[in-house]
Amino acid sequence: MIYITRKLEFCASHRLYNPNFSDEKNAETFGLCNNPNGHGHNYVLEVTVRGEVDPDTGMVLDLKALKHLITTEIIDQVDHKNLNIDVGFLQGIIPTAENIAIKFWDIIEPKIENGTLHKLKLYESERNFVTYKGSAHARVD
Ligand code: NI
Repeated sequence: MIYITRKLEFCASHRLYNPNFSDEKNAETFGLCNNPNGHGHNYVLEVTVRGEVDPDTGMVLDLKALKHLITTEIIDQVDHKNLNIDVGFLQGIIPTAENIAIKFWDIIEPKIENGTLHKLKLYESERNFVTYKGSAHARVD
């Protein structure tokens, strides 16, 4: 078993708030990310797939195909967008890195043809990032 990772970047804006919270509670909970008119992040997404090396190619999968899948299914949908407004699959959720990573997983996991999606890492900034390995019953370390 070997793990192969593709790293991609996108820029997007968002505002974190819960419509059921008061303005005070939103400000206290989400801090700078609650700024009323939003703000941007330079996100970095790392997609890790695990699988066996195909003896005919020496590869787990075609990285070009993986890049194409992630670009069309995810990056093109979110790059230079307002995550609260412009992105259909993020409607109705608070666009934290956690929630975004879970949505990304649900979109690409069924579409990976060679190998198995192992891990998504989503950086909201250099120091803040989340790691998702799918729902508990599917997790393999
Ligand atoms: Ni933010």
